[in-house]
Amino acid sequence: MFSPRALRWSVITFLMVAAVWAVSADEQPKPPVKMTAQVDHKRMMELLGIKELRRGADGNPKSERAANLDESKANPYPDLPDPLVLKNGKKVTTAEMWVKQRRPEIVEDFDREVYGRLPKETPKVKWEVTSSEKQMVGDVPVVTKKLVGKVDNSSYTHITVNIQLTLTVPAEAKGPVPVMMEFGFGFGGKGPPKGGAQSWQQQVLAKGWGYAIIVPNSIQADNGAGLTFGIIGLCNKGQPRKVDDWGALRAWAWGASRALDYFETDKAVDAKRVGIEGLSRYGKAAIVAMAYDERFAIGFIGSSGAGGVKLHRRNYGEKVENVASSGEYHWMAGNYIKYAGPLTAKDLPVDSHQLVAMCAPRPVFISVGSLQVEGGWIDAKGMFMAGAAAAPVYELLGKKGLGTSEFPKQETALVDGEIAFRQHAGGHTTGPNWPTFLKWADRYFKEPAK
Ligand code: GCU
Repeated sequence: MFSPRALRWSVITFLMVAAVWAVSADEQPKPPVKMTAQVDHKRMMELLGIKELRRGADGNPKSERAANLDESKANPYPDLPDPLVLKNGKKVTTAEMWVKQRRPEIVEDFDREVYGRLPKETPKVKWEVTSSEKQMVGDVPVVTKKLVGKVDNSSYTHITVNIQLTLTVPAEAKGPVPVMMEFGFGFGGKGPPKGGAQSWQQQVLAKGWGYAIIVPNSIQADNGAGLTFGIIGLCNKGQPRKVDDWGALRAWAWGASRALDYFETDKAVDAKRVGIEGLSRYGKAAIVAMAYDERFAIGFIGSSGAGGVKLHRRNYGEKVENVASSGEYHWMAGNYIKYAGPLTAKDLPVDSHQLVAMCAPRPVFISVGSLQVEGGWIDAKGMFMAGAAAAPVYELLGKKGLGTSEFPKQETALVDGEIAFRQHAGGHTTGPNWPTFLKWADRYFKEPAK
């Protein structure tokens, strides 16, 4: 027989054991949530209290909902937020005011409403050289290193992230060299451009510089279903995003910044002269990387279009509504979806000219292909306009913008200032603009880095 006292004690002991067990079971990390992009998109709409979204434009010109390609209808919201007026209405008149007050306001708006915030702390990345080989690229002897950036996943072992990177430098370099890094694979700049010209890699090597290719998908998958995996999923311990969490563009840019951390430790690289290049969705990633990480010395932004350099307020080619849809929202913060219903592009607190301005005073080259070959989806003029509207910030910092607000004829290189623009005669590629870009970049990379 138990005495009442013994009984009480055994009940208490039982409850304590049960409590400890429950807590530790709760601490067992759960595996990542699995959702389709559609389900996660819907979930995000619910979080935002949105019932319905406006539909995006259609890329097919024969469709009833075909994207607008009529310039006279392209600017429904012509007023852009002034990059040089503080939220309190005060005019920004000095470089210091820009750096200390206005730029941080703009960064906060992009973080919250457009691209999403990085977590307060992101895990450490340990870079390992997995191979180092002497090779020939054309007639230039080079050393190519393959690297893997192992992301510390001790906080959540269900997810592994290994960033893939290759770095190629001239074997006979006398010292550290500038490096152009591309968000790579599949998009742009692959192989020699038509007409038998040299590949971009050969052109870069001919300058005595090196190049690197980083693989975005090794950082974060390019779809909504992947948001509980990759670096975003790892930081969220496999749980879905909050409305202002980072999207894939910032995740890819984060990976590029970690590659730059590695370059700072590699004696072959002049880490003060590392440029970033990408095309299309990777052009968007390139401008985001350039805007946020002030260590990138130069940007070559290829056909970045909607969600990139193109003004969100434009109605020409791809629209906010397309980027906010379940096929593309994963690039952005969840909050961005709001601007496809009930809000509109004109409600955005910032626009892309301010993203370009975030790069100031560092040089940015905006690249696009021809309307006939590449098509209008990208909106060459919408990107040009963002470049032009960023000029006042560059000028405040003692630099030069595009030098005109008139859209130039195809193949006219606007390269006199730190914002450059050129529409080449080719298609969806940066290929034909490499020679112009490199000649312009030479101006900044010639002098030894300070
Ligand atoms: C689609 C998308 C664009 C994107 C492009 C690409 O066309 O709508 O925003 O830039 O894919 O990355 O190739």
